[in-house]
Amino acid sequence: KSLKAYNSFGIDVKSHYFIEIFTESALTELLHSAIVRQQKLLVLGGGSNVLFTQDFDGLVIKVSIPGISAAAQEDGDEVIVTAGAGVVWNDLVNYCVAHDFAGIENLSLIPGTVGASPIQNIGAYGVELKDVFHSCKAYEIASGQARTFSFEGCRFGYRDSIFKNELKNKYIITSVSFRLSKVASLHTKYGAIQDELAKRNINHPGIADVSTVVAHIRVSKLPDPSTIGNAGSFFKNPVIDQSQFQQLIAQFPGVVNFPVGSDKVKIAAGWLIEQCGFKGKVVGNTGTWKNQALVLVNHGGATGHEVYSFSEQIIKDVDAKFGIQLEREVNIL
Ligand code: EPU
Repeated sequence: KSLKAYNSFGIDVKSHYFIEIFTESALTELLHSAIVRQQKLLVLGGGSNVLFTQDFDGLVIKVSIPGISAAAQEDGDEVIVTAGAGVVWNDLVNYCVAHDFAGIENLSLIPGTVGASPIQNIGAYGVELKDVFHSCKAYEIASGQARTFSFEGCRFGYRDSIFKNELKNKYIITSVSFRLSKVASLHTKYGAIQDELAKRNINHPGIADVSTVVAHIRVSKLPDPSTIGNAGSFFKNPVIDQSQFQQLIAQFPGVVNFPVGSDKVKIAAGWLIEQCGFKGKVVGNTGTWKNQALVLVNHGGATGHEVYSFSEQIIKDVDAKFGIQLEREVNIL
């Protein structure tokens, strides 16, 4: 089956087998069948964080389990919202905004599905998934057994969780529960949000205002994957030690940085890449986005190899100029 419609980079590769799962019982049935032990497996949500560099010679399991439900908590202000892994992330955001459930409005318009959201602890504009995560349900591929993961069990980090480490490719997430609030405590400290609220003369923003403003910022900065293939930030923002940072800033006073705790500093990878002359650069069918150098794009007809080689060039040049090794955020397959 062609996977072109199943990855936001729009890379034209094929998989040997493909199955779409709509219920937990269909998943358990699949996990108890022989094909799962005979084939290489790839679990796909929205396909918005992968770069295919070759055909997938195995079984692709596309998780499309639907459904959103909300349960008010006894202590009043809290509400637990549970969504099926196949729910489009932004549909969940819209549901929560419409119901006045606060907590994920800063994560408006992030591509992908709910099931993928804990795996890389999605984040944007001052909020990370871990800030509102309650638990998730997942099935072990080897045994077909269901298990509930608590917040602690997920070991969240920056764009990281247990599902990218010890439990990589071992579990399939079927639903995620979020701890949201009926009394809004909004996160509007992020510079771009403040600027945009001020521009619109919104002095007392509500949940919907924050969502609208974040969506506006994203649309203005990031390419729309439905017209220009991309997977959001291609690299992580590197986190370096204070000592390395001191040397860096002495040489490059303009370096865009954010302190992380007292001894580490996160550097804006987009800035590093732009400084190496890559912003808006077009190389064959690929390149970096004109408004955000951290986003690699498919201008049409790019192969995964082409995008991958371009990313190698970026890593090399950034390392040569700044002595920093960028790490890819997108999964390479
Ligand atoms: N910058 C440049 N040139 C560029 C891009 C960025 O100089 O071409 C500098 C600017 O100074 C800018 C700063 O870097 O102010 C930060 O840029 P931006 O606000 O666009 O955020 P980011 O650090 O590049 C991260 C996330 C995004 C998320 C935004 C907003 C990562 C890897 N990326 O990007 O997440 O939307 O913050 O919070 O942490 C994603 O993970 O796919 C993603 C899009």
